[in-house]
Amino acid sequence: MNETSTDGFVTVARVGEIPRGGVKVVRLGDQPVAVFHLADGYYAMDDLCTHDGGPLAEGILDGDVIECPRHGARFDVKTGAVLCLPAVTPVPVYDVKVVGDEIKVGWA
Ligand code: FES
Repeated sequence: MNETSTDGFVTVARVGEIPRGGVKVVRLGDQPVAVFHLADGYYAMDDLCTHDGGPLAEGILDGDVIECPRHGARFDVKTGAVLCLPAVTPVPVYDVKVVGDEIKVGWA
């Protein structure tokens, strides 16, 4: 499901599809994007670790923090900020909104 709307947001999932504490990987263009369901809502970030391209959605989610499954770098899911080495560059994050029962990611 990838429907682009006029406001630059793309529908990526339905509400209820991603359990709390869960994640869904979608492709926007050529980019894999991980959509996380945290305690206070949905957040989207590139599904590529900035250290060496690890698939972040396959890592361990601890609260708002995702740990890369490859070498253990940790990132703030809400901001993309690096919390520990070996990564040094933040992961790009995207706006998310819920409209009706659709979860949408800003992809202008
Ligand atoms: S690829 Fe993520 S820590 Fe190395």
